[in-house]
Amino acid sequence: MNHFELRDGELHCEAVPLSQIAKAVGTPVYVYSSATLERHFNVLASALREAGLKGEDGGAPLVAYAVKANPNLSVLATLARLGAGADTVSEGEIRRALAAGVPASRIVFSGVGKQAGEIAFALQSGISEINVESEPEMRLIARVAGGLGQPARIAFRVNPDVTAGGHAKIATGGADNKFGVSFSEAERLYAEAAADPWLRPVGLTCHIGSQITALEPMEAAFRRMRELVERLRARGLEVRRLDLGGGLGVPYFNQPEPPSPADYAEMVARVTKGLDVGLAFEPGRVIAANAGILLAEVLHIHLRPEGRRFVVLDAAMNDLIRPAMYDAYHDLRPVRPRSGPTAIADVVGPVCETGDTFTRDRELPPLEAGDLVAFMSAGAYGASMSSEYNSRLLVPEVLVRGAEWAVVRPRPTYDDMLARETRPPWLDQA
Ligand code: LLP
Repeated sequence: MNHFELRDGELHCEAVPLSQIAKAVGTPVYVYSSATLERHFNVLASALREAGLKGEDGGAPLVAYAVKANPNLSVLATLARLGAGADTVSEGEIRRALAAGVPASRIVFSGVGKQAGEIAFALQSGISEINVESEPEMRLIARVAGGLGQPARIAFRVNPDVTAGGHAKIATGGADNKFGVSFSEAERLYAEAAADPWLRPVGLTCHIGSQITALEPMEAAFRRMRELVERLRARGLEVRRLDLGGGLGVPYFNQPEPPSPADYAEMVARVTKGLDVGLAFEPGRVIAANAGILLAEVLHIHLRPEGRRFVVLDAAMNDLIRPAMYDAYHDLRPVRPRSGPTAIADVVGPVCETGDTFTRDRELPPLEAGDLVAFMSAGAYGASMSSEYNSRLLVPEVLVRGAEWAVVRPRPTYDDMLARETRPPWLDQA
């Protein structure tokens, strides 16, 4: 459920008509609903609680929102106020989470290529855990921790060799993917870490992919993780925490219906029954995707004499790359629906490559130049993956709460864009 609905013939975000935002901020612009963000977080957190799942401290499991899905500071602060932690993959994301008010004790740090400086920053910030993705990375963390004289709490990200996800580019759990240590080496590394004065292994993590729409692969991966926890404990090693990653899919319009948070939580409870381990989760998309839209304007309807119809928008692949990158489907809705027949069209942006196509041959409601349209389910991996390709200004972001709204990332000016670059002295020499 989300809070983008037609009211009096116009699509609203909560109580705000989208045309009001377009008029004030211009298009393209991302618009997020606080109520939807909050609802999604609460639905997931309460499903986990109601299934009887526990965190490391015996309280609720840690829900570490995957910052990469939508790292806007106000989005993070909205979730932090509900008790969200943060799953981060760079110093920049750790800094964002801290700046938005996520306590360091609820931040985890993942990623296959953490740099020494980032590891040092993470340790000095006192974050909850660093997820180790390989043996050389484990050695690097031990070196950095030793240099600082501060032991590192680590968890091993284990690659369970289970593939899942909405697209090959976002499947991460297969043995031929770069993520995590393999099952066969996890035990040895965990034991070595436990013997290292600068490493404190606290548990295991896994994340097998994103936009997963079936429970079976997750269940298979989680069972393997349980097995490993038990094997480590049988060797006398302490395993306090099991972080099961993110990956739960969302109902993109017209796509396979994903499992509900309640079914997901129930499955986790079944798999971890009696294990006595503190659970953590790293959901991104399931919280943010349907809490945001990309609002754009139709610039032209271009009809080719041979019959193809192109709807040219002022938004482009640099603003929302998912269709170009993953063939992702985003529903496109007119802000003020007109009556009339539907038409088959391609929806494209102004960027100079054919990949700048949001959708081909889609049956669309009647549209005219000047109409506002909304790409739905764009709150996750939308703005966070945007760029300035074609020297288009970075797309702004707006957060709505009830009848109020605020620009939470303004559109830069062209001067801002140009001023970021510097010029080598030789270009000014005669
Ligand atoms: N934890 C880890 C270690 C991750 O790598 C990811 C996402 C998540 C959690 C959150 O996964 P989620 O719950 O959002 O599925 N740009 C792609 C998605 C890439 C996901 C990368 N990792 C897209 O637009 O579909």
